[in-house]
Amino acid sequence: MKILVIGSGGREHAIVWKIRKDNPDAGLFAVPGNGGICDDAECLQGNANSPEQTAGIVLDKKIDLTVVGPEVPLAAGISDVFRQKGMKVFGPVKKGAMLESSKCFAKDFMKRNKIPTADFTVSYSFEECMKILGNRKFPCVIKFDGLAAGKGVQVSMDMEEARDFVTGIYKDKIFGAENQKVVIEDCLSGTEMSYLAFTDTKTFLPMVPAKDHKRVFDGDRGPNTGGMGCYSPSDTFNSGMEKTIREDIVLPTLKGLQKENIDYRGVLYFGIMLTEKGPRLLEYNVRFGDPETQVILPRMESSLTDIMEAVIEGSLEKADVRWSEKKSVCVILASGGYPGEYKTGIEIKGLAEIKDTDVTIFHAGTKKENGRVVTAGGRVLGITSLGDDIEKAAGNAYRAAEKIEFEGKHYRKDICPGRKD
Ligand SMILES: Nc1ncnc2c1ncn2[C@@H]1O[C@H](COP(=O)(O)OP(=O)(O)O)[C@@H](O)[C@H]1O
Ligand SMILES: [Mg+2]
Repeated sequence: MKILVIGSGGREHAIVWKIRKDNPDAGLFAVPGNGGICDDAECLQGNANSPEQTAGIVLDKKIDLTVVGPEVPLAAGISDVFRQKGMKVFGPVKKGAMLESSKCFAKDFMKRNKIPTADFTVSYSFEECMKILGNRKFPCVIKFDGLAAGKGVQVSMDMEEARDFVTGIYKDKIFGAENQKVVIEDCLSGTEMSYLAFTDTKTFLPMVPAKDHKRVFDGDRGPNTGGMGCYSPSDTFNSGMEKTIREDIVLPTLKGLQKENIDYRGVLYFGIMLTEKGPRLLEYNVRFGDPETQVILPRMESSLTDIMEAVIEGSLEKADVRWSEKKSVCVILASGGYPGEYKTGIEIKGLAEIKDTDVTIFHAGTKKENGRVVTAGGRVLGITSLGDDIEKAAGNAYRAAEKIEFEGKHYRKDICPGRKD
């Protein structure tokens, strides 16, 4: 069997690693991959965001199954193109991907399907946006409609902050000139959590819950990042809460997809705020989360490949997914300066010294250069460890994190409940 994974982050390395574990003999390929993925799969050059180009690769290499990691190719319609050509692909079609690629579409979908979320208004111009903001209480939340690599949302504390952000969107066109839509919504307070599930639109199979850490510094300080670390299970989660999330958020979402004829086959990620009044849906993502995937997949005992095939066939109802009782922790090693400016091309040392069998190193922003592994992005490595309890898992991950060296290395020291610097 030949499998292609699209993407180049820690998430894709975790997917490749898990598929390799499931199928030691599989032919594995990645477009474009990274400095770690290339040890487990053949990395191919190509534009991962171009459905036609990747379809060409699938024909050329006789690939049986393609797994799409990031949201951009999904929003570009890779699954529509592949399905039309009769190629097996794991990931939703363009209409389904709009749950992530358009905040307005997602909010309207939630509203029509009575899914609890923050109240909101949509603006179509700078003037309209300023008028809406003039009539609002702060803090409030401003969301650019389109994909913005995690930079499209601002929790505005006052009018000045809001005006700057809205000026950036409408006047400076920081996210591009075409999309003029912005969502303005109520600011909720509570604890955030990620809930991920496999779905074929009829059935959903939840994954184990994970807790991400978005801010760059310990104690949730500093600017937002793509995610600085994760642990699973999430300590804020209990079975009563899961029942409410299923009944109020997940099931109405599936019913909505069915009613609106959106044939969704892939991972659906619910970004939830646990408020005093109950769980509220902040957003959907239409793919595996990163770094969540790096703590979730090491706990997955069933074959990911089998589950993905069941999703594509629409037979998820018959599938079963087993999870390890072990806990997992992932600590992200980032480049100095990230999420702002940072240097790349710095040699990473110490990778071969990590011998702990509970520890897996997922590469994100790395590449191989003349036999050396060098940094090539903001988030460089995800150091994941399993353990009988979360403290042990964290201890293993941190011991490995200390041994790996590159100039400017930065990581949070508190990726474990109760752990301080
Ligand atoms: N209504 C809201 N109330 C409070 N905080 C919010 C709200 N919506 C979003 N946020 C915060 O902003 C972050 C990013 O928003 P989100 O909708 O997840 O967009 P994206 O992940 O696409 O940037 C959330 O993780 C959360 O911390
Ligand atoms: Mg989010």
